[in-house]
Amino acid sequence: MSHFKSRRSFIKTSAMASLALPILGTSILSCKSEKKDLNSTSKKLKILILGGTSFLGPHQIAYALSRGHSISTFTRGKTIPKIHAELFKDVEQLIGDRENNLKALENRKWDVVIDNSGRKVEWTKATAILLKDNVGLYMYTSSTGVYYPYLTGNLSTDTKLVLEMPEGLTEDEKYEQDYGIMKANSELEAIKAFGEDRTTIIRPTYMLGPGDRMDRFMHWPVRLAEGGEIMVPGKKDDSIQYVDVRDIAEWFIRLAETKTAGIYNGVGPANPQTMQQFINEASKSFDKEHHFVYIDDYDFLKDNEFYFSIPWIIPLDKHYGSARVTNAKSKKNGLTFRPLNDTLKSILKWWDSEAVSNERRDKFNSNLKQMVEKEKGMITAWNSR
Ligand SMILES: NC(=O)c1ccc[n+]([C@@H]2O[C@H](COP(=O)([O-])OP(=O)(O)OC[C@H]3O[C@@H](n4cnc5c(N)ncnc54)[C@H](OP(=O)(O)O)[C@@H]3O)[C@@H](O)[C@H]2O)c1
Repeated sequence: MSHFKSRRSFIKTSAMASLALPILGTSILSCKSEKKDLNSTSKKLKILILGGTSFLGPHQIAYALSRGHSISTFTRGKTIPKIHAELFKDVEQLIGDRENNLKALENRKWDVVIDNSGRKVEWTKATAILLKDNVGLYMYTSSTGVYYPYLTGNLSTDTKLVLEMPEGLTEDEKYEQDYGIMKANSELEAIKAFGEDRTTIIRPTYMLGPGDRMDRFMHWPVRLAEGGEIMVPGKKDDSIQYVDVRDIAEWFIRLAETKTAGIYNGVGPANPQTMQQFINEASKSFDKEHHFVYIDDYDFLKDNEFYFSIPWIIPLDKHYGSARVTNAKSKKNGLTFRPLNDTLKSILKWWDSEAVSNERRDKFNSNLKQMVEKEKGMITAWNSR
């Protein structure tokens, strides 16, 4: 299970989890954000989503369609929507490749473009330049990974970002740093083309919810639903952060409706939460007996190669502040949060549905079995220290 992977695997998984990462002076990026009526749905928008068929995209589409907007997606046609699949008959699906074929986007007009699929700085540069005269607002899906290395707490949109790969890093360190640098520079390219007043940057932390293509969080709802003894890594007062993908998706669309530019962290929960509070709140969602064993010694966890169990990440060194990202500005600008109970229940409902293949569930369950065995061993060693 991912929790026990080596340091190198941890780095890679973290990076893939979109959170390993970078930067420099976002002070120069602090865009205007006029307060507007966040509930306004008067104008029906034409929205282009670069991407749209994986995890975040389908939730954006579901909400946008429910509010009367029209949607075009731009993908290679490889990723088949596994959630809200039935809605795609009402979506214009443009085909191309951000690497080398943007033809389908030429000479077209939209009110808003949402760039979910930005994986390279050049991709964002090219689409932003291509669309700047034909689209009103560029919304770029960034990541809190831009704050990597997370050396301090209180990470805000005024925090300076790393924009260039520092000298002297090992290959592993470069790998870990690369994602955030890419996201930070992509943000700049969007702003360069559209200007601060027509660019919205959202930096989500770990997004949880139905439709996730990664299994990194499934452990919690599945184990909590089963009950019994569960190991909890970290100190009870370790800070943790996560956000429901649907809260991010819906906020995107409301910001689009109000043409709200600026840079925002997409981070929940609403108020700071400790690991113990997370565990207590999460366990209340399930009518089961739980016995939680907290292992709060970071050295012991490291000796067992246990670095994270999303949403918890060992808060040491470059990961000290990974769950210490501010969200006051986002809340002020309309980010809302559904209860954790809803997130957990929705994930489990989706997990047990046909949207998830038996193959995926079987693989997860087999990994989970190994993980539980490993945990048992750790608990025994912990109790007999
Ligand atoms: N998951 C998290 O917790 C998290 C946290 C922070 C930030 N983020 C960011 O959130 C964003 C949203 O991710 P998502 O996967 O959920 O978005 P999505 O919009 O649902 O799906 C991603 C899309 O990218 C398309 N795509 C991939 N390569 C492409 C290419 N070369 N040309 C054109 N389209 C391409 C895929 O379709 P095809 O394969 O068919 O091309 C797919 O539709 C990402 O930028 C990620 O970095 C995620």
